[in-house]
Amino acid sequence: MPSASAARAAARAAARAAARAIDGHTALLGVLGDPVRHSLSPAMHNAALRELGLNWVYLALPAPPEQLATVVRGLEAMGCRGLSVTIPHKQSVAALAAELSPLARRVGAVNTLVPREGGGWFGTNTDVEGFLAPLQAAGRPWQGQRAVVLGCGGSARAVVAGLAELELGSIQVAGRRAGSREAFVADCRAWAPQLEGLSWSDDGTAASPDLREALASADLVVNTTPVGMASASDPAAAGRSPLTGAELNALPAGAWVYDLIYTPRPTALLQAATARGCQAIDGLEMLVQQGAAALRLWSGSDQIPVEAMRAALLSQLTGQQAP
Ligand SMILES: NC(=O)c1ccc[n+]([C@@H]2O[C@H](COP(=O)([O-])OP(=O)(O)OC[C@H]3O[C@@H](n4cnc5c(N)ncnc54)[C@H](OP(=O)(O)O)[C@@H]3O)[C@@H](O)[C@H]2O)c1
Repeated sequence: MPSASAARAAARAAARAAARAIDGHTALLGVLGDPVRHSLSPAMHNAALRELGLNWVYLALPAPPEQLATVVRGLEAMGCRGLSVTIPHKQSVAALAAELSPLARRVGAVNTLVPREGGGWFGTNTDVEGFLAPLQAAGRPWQGQRAVVLGCGGSARAVVAGLAELELGSIQVAGRRAGSREAFVADCRAWAPQLEGLSWSDDGTAASPDLREALASADLVVNTTPVGMASASDPAAAGRSPLTGAELNALPAGAWVYDLIYTPRPTALLQAATARGCQAIDGLEMLVQQGAAALRLWSGSDQIPVEAMRAALLSQLTGQQAP
């Protein structure tokens, strides 16, 4: 007679096999972006949906900005079970949600839409939870520590929200354009009073004296710029780093360096940081954990197959890097 655990495994395998077939009952989820064909989210989420045995499918859904409202309303009308939102819609989609989480309001960006029972979409932001996961897993107290954040665009807001939640003592944001840096600090100060702006050079290639001084006493540096991200149109891009070797050498040896980029792995920044004796974190786990948090909201299940999601992403990334 099969054991209870063998019976459960067989039931899960049967559910997975059934879930692979798309039929008249298959429900839809997806990611809205423009462009979005490059997104790794379909591979990651469909791997999880198979494991969960759900008859759902997750697609990349291209939505040009002028069509976003039509697409979002149409998907609601079709009974879509949930949406991820990526560039360039994370800010603009907030106006299309019937309700926003306090976190989405604070961050000023929505990366997840969940259908509400009474109609309309609930917009929230799981990037903060995704960003925090590897820092919380690091097993060291972050409270009172000093962080330098490179870049002040969309993801920097989620990063600052996460660092404020961890109660860092100082968060300094370096931005190359004074206007956007000052606007960023002014926007976020209400909920991150420990936030300050730091000037960078005009082109982001050399640190200002302010940034150099901040790096010398930083416990954590987070790169939120795209500098160092692999690009099909610019083969040299993957070799770039937002900090020079000399700037990295100014960091205390035990500092942590977190790069939101996940391709290439490791980035030039993280290679140099490791050589300096720093601890390195790349953006892959953030991607996995923000997706897992979204799937928890869509499915109502706490048993999210995070391993399968990570494996699917790694397999996609390996495939992309293969000649
Ligand atoms: N791992 C994840 O789950 C995850 C999630 C979100 C984002 N990301 C990654 O994070 C990166 C940023 O995304 P985002 O949405 O925040 O982009 P974004 O809104 O465009 O912000 C990018 C920021 O970087 C600055 N920047 C760009 N090039 C620079 C340079 N050469 N020197 C100095 N600063 C520079 C920009 O300044 P200007 O305004 O002056 O151009 C801006 O402040 C991307 O690589 C993205 O793939 C990863």
